[in-house]
Amino acid sequence: MTQAPERVRLAVKAYKICGVNYVFEPTRHDPGRRHPRKKRVADDETRFLKSWIERPLLTGAVMPSGKFLAKAMAAQVDPREPGPIVEIGPGTGPVTEALIARGVPQERLVLVEFNPDFIELLRKRFPLARVIQGDAYRIAELLKDKLAEPAAAVVSSLPLFTKPPQQRRDFLDQAFTLMSRKAPFIQFTYAVVPPIPERGTGYTSTASNWILLNIPPARVWVYRKI
Ligand SMILES: C[S@@+](CC[C@H](N)C(=O)[O-])C[C@H]1O[C@@H](n2cnc3c(N)ncnc32)[C@H](O)[C@@H]1O
Repeated sequence: MTQAPERVRLAVKAYKICGVNYVFEPTRHDPGRRHPRKKRVADDETRFLKSWIERPLLTGAVMPSGKFLAKAMAAQVDPREPGPIVEIGPGTGPVTEALIARGVPQERLVLVEFNPDFIELLRKRFPLARVIQGDAYRIAELLKDKLAEPAAAVVSSLPLFTKPPQQRRDFLDQAFTLMSRKAPFIQFTYAVVPPIPERGTGYTSTASNWILLNIPPARVWVYRKI
């Protein structure tokens, strides 16, 4: 009897937690095994599933973001603007990679992550970026005196809906204190409603079209100070 790959066993466990009984049917072909890029994607999926099973509310998703969503997040950043780019909740780094592909040098990246397993991976994967472990809901204190100049953008993947609206709003306000005047605060969400209340005072917000090629489909919201 063929043993299911670890990520499949974890996926079956995750389904079970969600009340779905999935039965693994072995096939001889596991594309995750041979091709180096596919293997890396499969390994990241395994890490994510593990993290979601251990801490579902903190991880906030069962899979890392796909390349289309990551690219849509990065597209909101203008690499010509001066200053560091703060990424919050980078996980295994798909958005980080998209930011680098967009032309942001690793040296300008400040990655803020809570999960120590992801921290270790990020330090290996992006050796020139600054990787900071901590709670992003205390971002102002966490990055106090750590940014030499105001950030050109804050790019967040936090699972904001696990927190009450006031705490999300407070998180946005803290992020604004770290950024230059016109800089974007970028956040994706799978939800149909805005991740931070849309009609707040002191900021504007816009949403992208649905990125249907991501699983699950997501939208990218951009908030700016007025
Ligand atoms: C939905 S995942 C997104 C990961 C990655 N950016 C992606 O798009 O695949 C959310 C990430 O935020 C991190 N996270 C959740 N709460 C956090 C907090 N309070 N402070 C810092 N990171 C946090 C999780 O560990 C996880 O890596």
